[in-house]
Amino acid sequence: MCQTLLYIKANPKTDSNSTTFTLANVFVQKYQKKNPDCQIITLDLYKEGIQPLDADTLTKMFGGGDNKALTYAKQFANADKYVLAAPMWNLSIPAILKAYFDYVSYVGVSFKYTETGPIGLLSDKPRKAVHISSRGGAYSEGPAKEFDLGDKYIRTILGFFGITQVESLFLENANVLQGDALQKAIDQSHQTAQNLASNF
Ligand SMILES: Cc1cc2nc3c(=O)[nH]c(=O)nc-3n(C[C@H](O)[C@H](O)[C@H](O)COP(=O)(O)O)c2cc1C
Repeated sequence: MCQTLLYIKANPKTDSNSTTFTLANVFVQKYQKKNPDCQIITLDLYKEGIQPLDADTLTKMFGGGDNKALTYAKQFANADKYVLAAPMWNLSIPAILKAYFDYVSYVGVSFKYTETGPIGLLSDKPRKAVHISSRGGAYSEGPAKEFDLGDKYIRTILGFFGITQVESLFLENANVLQGDALQKAIDQSHQTAQNLASNF
């Protein structure tokens, strides 16, 4: 069941120049086809002009009152499904996505403090997320897994909010493979995207 899918895009590249967005678009288009009643909201963080938290927003976040972080946090909390499209940058996510999470991690909206510690507020309904990411190398197996701090961060922060159903979809070795081998990996990732979207 989905009322709203939030498609969060974190890359300054255009769709056609980004292997991450190309892959994520395959997923989202398949999902929309299967779930025509689900409203898809596309949130392109670069087009939004997301900036690191500033003093004014921070003061308002803890002092009460409307502010841009609260608007983004409420939009996030309102969705049921999440597609996070972000390439690997320096073993992690692009900084703009971290800045976005600094808005969305909002006391009273996505989590709250209790006497026994913080708890997520987004386990109130079934929610699902997928992290879609192209990367130059390969990190999904063996010791290299330790280096994928971006996927770990996304899974951890979503879990902190109470969102525990999280999938990962990677195009790996995008800067290692060439020619037919690269095309084969892209085709395979698009097939996986279609399969995942069918059951998301
Ligand atoms: C700023 C920057 C940092 C990067 N850091 C890594 C990295 O740590 N590991 C890696 O495997 N690839 C890294 N890459 C390569 C990209 O992850 C890779 O080219 C990916 O396919 C880009 O996806 P895109 O086409 O959606 O932008 C980096 C690329 C850029 C631009």
